[in-house]
Amino acid sequence: MKNKLLWFATIALLAACTPAKDSTEQKIDNLLSQMTLEEKIGQMNQLNGMGLSDDLTGQIRAGQVGSILNEVNVDVVNELQRIAVEESRLGIPLIIARDVIHGFKTIFPIPLGQAATWNPAVVEAGARVAAEESAASGIRWTFSPMIDVSRDPRWGRIAESYGEDTYLSAVMGAATVKGYQTDNLANPTAIAACAKHFCGYGVSESGKDYNTTWIPEVQLRDVYLPPFKAVADAGCATFMCSFNDINGVPSTGNAWLNKDILRDEWNYDGMLVTDWGSMEQMIPHGFCSDLKHAAEVAANAGVDMDMMSYGYTQYLKTLVEEGKVKEADIDNAVRNILRLKFRLGLFENPYTAKVENPYYRPESLEKAKQAAIESAVLLKNDKQTLPLKDVRTVALVGPLADAGVDQVGTWCFDAEPEHCVTPAQAFRNLEQFNVIVEPGLTYSRDNSQQGIQKAVAAARRADAIVCCVGEEAILSGEAKCRADISLPGAQTELIRQLKATGKPLVLAVMAGRPLTIGEETEMADAVLYHFHAGTMAGPALAELITGQAVPSGKLPVTIPKMVGQVPVYYAHKNTGRPASNITMIDDIPVAAPQFSIGSTSYHLDAGSQPLFPFGYGLSYTTFAYANPVLSDTVLTRNGKITVSCEIRNTGSYDAYETVQLYTRDLVASLCQPVRLLKGFQKVHIKAGQTATVSFELTADDLAFCHSDMRSYAEPGDFQVWIAADSQQGIPATFTLR
Ligand code: NOJ
Repeated sequence: MKNKLLWFATIALLAACTPAKDSTEQKIDNLLSQMTLEEKIGQMNQLNGMGLSDDLTGQIRAGQVGSILNEVNVDVVNELQRIAVEESRLGIPLIIARDVIHGFKTIFPIPLGQAATWNPAVVEAGARVAAEESAASGIRWTFSPMIDVSRDPRWGRIAESYGEDTYLSAVMGAATVKGYQTDNLANPTAIAACAKHFCGYGVSESGKDYNTTWIPEVQLRDVYLPPFKAVADAGCATFMCSFNDINGVPSTGNAWLNKDILRDEWNYDGMLVTDWGSMEQMIPHGFCSDLKHAAEVAANAGVDMDMMSYGYTQYLKTLVEEGKVKEADIDNAVRNILRLKFRLGLFENPYTAKVENPYYRPESLEKAKQAAIESAVLLKNDKQTLPLKDVRTVALVGPLADAGVDQVGTWCFDAEPEHCVTPAQAFRNLEQFNVIVEPGLTYSRDNSQQGIQKAVAAARRADAIVCCVGEEAILSGEAKCRADISLPGAQTELIRQLKATGKPLVLAVMAGRPLTIGEETEMADAVLYHFHAGTMAGPALAELITGQAVPSGKLPVTIPKMVGQVPVYYAHKNTGRPASNITMIDDIPVAAPQFSIGSTSYHLDAGSQPLFPFGYGLSYTTFAYANPVLSDTVLTRNGKITVSCEIRNTGSYDAYETVQLYTRDLVASLCQPVRLLKGFQKVHIKAGQTATVSFELTADDLAFCHSDMRSYAEPGDFQVWIAADSQQGIPATFTLR
């Protein structure tokens, strides 16, 4: 009896100490307990939409499908959902997915352009509009944000990234997640975000898509993983495996990445999906012998859902029977999938309600225009050419002047060019001046010379030229990598001939990546750089050119002088021989002895600097930065210091300035970059006025990953800058004790 009492008491105590499962987890367990192995595997299967084909509806009815991607007809979505909910044995709803990358119908600037705004509120607003429009079509899951830190402009997917910096990518990624998901995924206009591509895809060798990567773990933890950790902390509902292998292991089969880091270190309880066919692609990678082996490897690496390899549906059951995959691991995967469906409220609300006029709402278009305005980076403005003044007639030329399909950029499956407002359309509506539209080249790769003369003739009749050059949408994005990142076609020749007219020449660049436009920048009086700016690119350009809006964008990525400099990024290491004593190739004396020149770290033909550095961007006004002031010269391990700076608007326009905080660890047990971005603020300063901008720094902000994979700051001296870009400013110094 005494023993029995003791036993009851122990059980009661244990029950009291075990945290009660929340109701969602209970519902998941309950549902899971009713599922057959086949039904569990069905949930792990994502298929491409095929309308209401018998094949697809049959599989849904049989409980063999967990998710569908690329179905955007809301009536079809609702019917597929009805079959899942009413006709499958357990009535588990589907989740419908789509690549909504920078807008569904109303297209915002490509993510690289959004990053150029340095304004997370604008990025969040863009994601919100994308979510509202796509949710109205039944989509509740998007494969965005792409937070691959990207330092190679040859890589077409740099367009989809937030650029080269870890911190900026983390901030923008988290803002995007918030915009898609809101604070409550069950909100019918919320869509689940997907952090991709986990991980290191931006490091693809030679900027060639799908290529291999070799990334030391220290660098992975310092540079490439933090944006993923940031979005996981921001509640990002799903993650996607990357196509690449890291250090020989494809991400889809990488248990260290997907289990040890994602689940064990970060406690992530969202869902992990493969990329399209990336399970099957472990065969050509040379990592798996066949699809059955690939399914086994992916399942054991903690991958929850198979996008389009059919590996799980074909082989998981046998693999469980053979003891190669544990059913408990399948249960975990299905838990993650069901958790997502519960969080989205799909069990209560599986259907998509009709929404009145969800697309192209005036307020959405206005937000898209604002984003496009803020994303423009003014690279050059000699003699205050911009905004155009005292101009009666403008020649609007160049292949991007009237190309709606191209100004939206990559990944716009659902964009409708007829809804895009091009520069030609927007300029024609301007009252300030007359416009002659004469593109000169019909598309960016056009090599014909015939049209150039017409454009030149138009330029001669005008007081100023606005020349829209760049890349067509099809030249960037997935699988659109370039080894030569100069302006394609005869665009440079067009610019040369326009320059010869002697008229003020403004280049409006619209591209999916940084382009090597050194020669063209030399020829132009002003250069305004837009990463493909979306539906409202035209009105945004018109407002900027006329001075109704003042440029405030800053580069989220370095623009190289020439492609051979790549990788070129601001956060490089100093090396033992930092660039100095630069002698350029044409200045080397003939038969010069081996060590008579240079002997420091630079290229003979490019020098040491890029064309434009990370963080760079001009305004129509000018800003003068005072030296930064520190609240203390000593930072203690648990303390903080404040760094402040006075910034005066010394020009004649009220304007926004993006103020950037950088630090450098001067001596460390692992060499550290010459600068690292640690914060930024976008402040509005009226002409003639001064703003004081302050940032706080703690030891955590100075931490880096050590050889034992632990991250902490080392005591010692640090420099800190508050500056207009990654190359300007005078540093202050403090010591961490
Ligand atoms: C392949 C791409 O890599 C990925 O980013 C995208 O989300 C999927 N395809 C689905 O279309």
